[in-house]
Amino acid sequence: DWTPSVFVDASIAELKEQLGNDKVVLGLSGGVDSSVAAMLIHHAIGKNLYCIFVDNGLLRKNEFEEVLASYKHMGLNVKGVDAKNQFYTALKGISDPEAKRKAIGKTFIEVFDQEAKAIKDVKWLAQGTIYPDIIESVSVKGPSATIKSHHNVGGLPEKMNLKVVEPLKTLFKDGVRLVGKALEIDQKILGRHPFPGPGLAIRILGDITPEKVAILQEVDSIFINMLKERGLYDDVWQAGAILLPIQSVGVMGDERTYERVVALRAVGSVDGMTADWMHLPYDFLSDVSNDIINKVKGVNRVVYDISSKPPATIEWE
Ligand code: XMP
Repeated sequence: DWTPSVFVDASIAELKEQLGNDKVVLGLSGGVDSSVAAMLIHHAIGKNLYCIFVDNGLLRKNEFEEVLASYKHMGLNVKGVDAKNQFYTALKGISDPEAKRKAIGKTFIEVFDQEAKAIKDVKWLAQGTIYPDIIESVSVKGPSATIKSHHNVGGLPEKMNLKVVEPLKTLFKDGVRLVGKALEIDQKILGRHPFPGPGLAIRILGDITPEKVAILQEVDSIFINMLKERGLYDDVWQAGAILLPIQSVGVMGDERTYERVVALRAVGSVDGMTADWMHLPYDFLSDVSNDIINKVKGVNRVVYDISSKPPATIEWE
């Protein structure tokens, strides 16, 4: 019978055997999969696991600092890399969603490549690939075929002559969470909503600027924190805010305003392949809208996305 602790013990033994005294590099994303993969390998080989966590400037508010601190707290040998400007430069003037993904993917590989090369004699690349990722990458059509493209670091293993180790590749998401729990990983990391690799870039419709990122981070943080405060976060599969490329008229005191519109999205789902919009309480929606408009300068209107997948997707890009 499969149990998380049997899986953990067997994997650690297997990884010890497989990796010996070799050095391994792994890119952490802050998400569940890469965190659990890292902890599993950490238990097998300790400091020979070199983790790299890249700040692409497209993460949630304070996420880089907070997640990096919890990784260090977990005992991981992790290097945080501030590559914000490299990503903003690569994204400059780009509005097309797939072009954004390509620019981000390419920049990620450049940054990761450079960091990995700096580790002497590294032999392995570890990845948090799970079973559905393997299925997804063989699917042929639509944006889902390219979904995880930025996470698999392309030709890197060949270029650097690295072998690939993927300790979670037989598991589904719920299995990964159970393994994470058996490894005593913080519920704050295990219970996190999925977050796309290209991050806020695909939630800012139109081109990306650091100013737009800052606005969206504020809006997103108000939304997510209020979901947590009201005990709704765990009922939602994924939530976030989208910065729309339009302005609308409003009034503030007796002044006319002409400012940005944000959309809020919260969905229920099992695997992200299909999703229903969440029927969040009206009181909640009302409070979060007021809070956003009162606190975030430059935003004067909030709308709620009531589309399900299919035919809409979870992300707007
Ligand atoms: P969609 O928008 O296709 O999203 O309904 C399904 C799930 O995939 C995530 N997603 C991505 N994840 N890179 C990622 O790592 C991407 O380019 C990407 N696009 C969508 C999305 O957040 C949702 O969880």
